[in-house]
Amino acid sequence: MSTSVTGNQDFFYNNRFIHDFRHASPYIHHFNGKTLVLAISSHVLVSDKLAALAADILLLTSLGMRLVIIHGCSQFIRAIADCHTAISIDENPVTDEAALRLVKQACGIARFDLEAALSMMPTQVMDHSIPNVRISSGNFLRAKPLGVINGIDMGYSGSVRKVDAAAIEEHLARNQLVLISPIGHSLSGQSYRLPVNEVAQAVSEAINAEKLIFLGTQQGILDEQQQTISKLNCIEIRQLLARNITDKRQTELLQTAVHVLEHGVQRVHVLSGLHDGSLLLELFTREGSGTAMAKAPFMRIRPAENKDIGEILQLIAPLEAAGILLPRDSEYMENHIHEFSVLEQDCYVYGCVALHVYPQEKAGELACLIVSPNARTRGYGELLLSHVIKQAQELQLQVLFALSTNTGDWFIERGFTSATLAQLPLKRQQQYTSNKRQSKIFRRQL
Ligand code: ACO
Repeated sequence: MSTSVTGNQDFFYNNRFIHDFRHASPYIHHFNGKTLVLAISSHVLVSDKLAALAADILLLTSLGMRLVIIHGCSQFIRAIADCHTAISIDENPVTDEAALRLVKQACGIARFDLEAALSMMPTQVMDHSIPNVRISSGNFLRAKPLGVINGIDMGYSGSVRKVDAAAIEEHLARNQLVLISPIGHSLSGQSYRLPVNEVAQAVSEAINAEKLIFLGTQQGILDEQQQTISKLNCIEIRQLLARNITDKRQTELLQTAVHVLEHGVQRVHVLSGLHDGSLLLELFTREGSGTAMAKAPFMRIRPAENKDIGEILQLIAPLEAAGILLPRDSEYMENHIHEFSVLEQDCYVYGCVALHVYPQEKAGELACLIVSPNARTRGYGELLLSHVIKQAQELQLQVLFALSTNTGDWFIERGFTSATLAQLPLKRQQQYTSNKRQSKIFRRQL
């Protein structure tokens, strides 16, 4: 029997689609109704990637995400001013009247270009029942002048005094996309030029955004070898800043990230807006496309819930087939889910462990310790073990057992010693004899 090439391709693409869709679905569910702030560099807005990015942004709104976009304008200034003037506006912290006029013009063009791109009907959302996305902009930012710094009058360079979070919220609640330029107005009616990073920081904190996403020209935050760092927490960001290895732009991004993460924003992402689909990859895949930053380490251990059973069974299946772990079915899991803890990052389960308690003997058994193959040798196994030891100590157990066919060395290296069948709680001895697995027994005093 032969299969046509087209048939094979269909099979490949169908499988790929099913795989990708299944993996994206927890994220799609999680982000519905969440507020995301996108800070888009003007380099991206003037590039030929704007249309694709706008299509992806529309796709996010159609999936129920509430979006605020803050745009840069330096490349638009370059388009309307001579090179010398544009560079001086970019680099000079002082904004005079002529510079402010150019900034206003550049913001106007940036806004129109973005509005036009967001008004296209993208191929991804050909569903005509989805209404056009309405875009709101307005006086959301109250500004104050920087004033005189070290004897230099900073002119119309300002900083954010207040964000009208209630007004932004009103527009978001009406399913509108909010577009904000880096210009704010003072109580006296004067306009001031504002740094995009500062606007992104102030807005995402004021509206309690789930994520702040910077879309620029670099793929993410780079290490000494110019490789993209995929994940950072606040401690690592501070260590990176102390090493002084990032350029000025990346240093500013890292400083902004620490600030917003410590003021309620859950995640900061730095991505390239010049790579087609980077935003979708970052939001809907485990691997992401750029750098994702969080306040605390990304992995956490939490009690397992019924909704985790499917993922736990997926972790167990290959180990059960290899004879490493005992078979467990969904009925068993439903009855014992309260004994399990899971290792989770974002919406995914990367590992699990169970603690069975034998109250009479003041003993516990650590079981079903698994770290998914793509997260191994990073200390998560040990983290799960410490978690179970802590649980057992809190229950005032005196001894912890582990039965294993081929992970004995791992337990021995972590303070366990070989034990005999007679040292197991009686009920467990009976199970041991009946299942005939001949596992080795290890114990650790608590
Ligand atoms: N025997 C000895 N050492 C091992 C074993 C093993 N079977 N498996 C991994 N290690 C070592 C690694 O080589 C690594 O050593 P290194 O740091 O010197 O390179 C170290 O353990 C890694 O330790 P962690 O990062 O803390 O652990 P990790 O997150 O990789 O998870 C685990 C370890 C849970 C054993 C993982 O390899 C796994 O899921 N294995 C398959 C499932 C399994 O066998 N579970 C134990 C069943 S027994 C029970 O649950 C009671």
